[in-house]
Amino acid sequence: MRVHLSRPDITEKEIEAVCAVLRTPNLSLGPKLAEFETAFTTYLGRKRAVAVNSGTSGLFLCMLALGIGPGDEVITTPFTFIATANSIMMVGARPVFVDIDPVSLNIDAEKIESKITEKTKAIMPVEVFGNPAGFDKLCKIAQKHNLIVIEDSCEALGSELNGKKAGTFGTMSIFAFYPNKQITTGEGGMILTNDDELADMCVSLRNQGRGKSGGWLDHERLGYNFRLSDINCALGIVQLSRIDEIKAKRKQVAKWYQEMLAADERLIVPTEPDNCDVNWFVFVVRLADRFTLQQRDKVLAAMGEQGIQVKNYFPPVLLQPFIAEQFSCKKGDFPVTESVCKSTISLPFYNNLTKDEVATVCETLKVTLDTYY
Ligand SMILES: Cc1ncc(COP(=O)(O)O)c(C=O)c1O
Repeated sequence: MRVHLSRPDITEKEIEAVCAVLRTPNLSLGPKLAEFETAFTTYLGRKRAVAVNSGTSGLFLCMLALGIGPGDEVITTPFTFIATANSIMMVGARPVFVDIDPVSLNIDAEKIESKITEKTKAIMPVEVFGNPAGFDKLCKIAQKHNLIVIEDSCEALGSELNGKKAGTFGTMSIFAFYPNKQITTGEGGMILTNDDELADMCVSLRNQGRGKSGGWLDHERLGYNFRLSDINCALGIVQLSRIDEIKAKRKQVAKWYQEMLAADERLIVPTEPDNCDVNWFVFVVRLADRFTLQQRDKVLAAMGEQGIQVKNYFPPVLLQPFIAEQFSCKKGDFPVTESVCKSTISLPFYNNLTKDEVATVCETLKVTLDTYY
């Protein structure tokens, strides 16, 4: 591969921090856990943070803590990573999909109200690719209908809308730290909330149902092992301390792509929406509407053959066979989502991508498009 899709950005500082933990007896449930959680509450200005071993575990624990389960409906987007919908199904609730806005690619706030029923308990929106556009409108609708917002902010650490950070819109908000994310802990996640009761419940659920005052072998409820080790937390603390530097680097890479690709009428190139300050998770261009899914797939394959790693972020969640079957979703139900999904090309995108590498990617993409179309 000449240019990879993503790469973590690990400095000597992260390596030293991890090694320092390895020299202590506290590899898990040690001081780095509280330090990482406090770094998050400070960064986001929220009361509580609960570290977990993945974004998926975080979403699942939030659903449990909120008491959402069988018979309940949760409104969400079909244009996301599968874990969003899975977390709803993991507690036995029903994901109710709402089509997306064709520009922001986030759930279309205008279309939410028609999907609200007496079974609706919550809305689970996603700042897809890191873009928080539309979250102000969406929160107003949730408030009007007394619905909880569970913010799947897994892709949006560092992004802002009207000066308000992603991860502060939901009653509960969840980040993820897989190595392709803005910051990584290897694997990991973080739940944010201002509600002590919900946070305490998540602390218990992530640690085998143990209670606040009970002993190691006292279990108050059915729990899980979703703990994040101190090794991971040490890595996360250094990564979070670099968030402004990381954001600046990602903005620079996005700017190079915008400059090199914006004039090509065969492509739709993302820009920062009004009032948004985006810390992009991935950089996804789209082929113009006249291109078919087969043509897009041919471009993806040709790019790969030329050593440029690209991806089709995302196919529609609701057309994954196990979801389509269970909830009777079929092609044509969500026209905007389907039209967007057939056109996406996620380009290589990470902090230390150089201008020359971006130029190589853009050149290869243009030549590929010239060859075929
Ligand atoms: C929108 C969204 N939700 C949830 C997740 C799940 O996070 P994890 O892979 O840490 O479980 C991801 C991760 O890619 C994501 O992009």
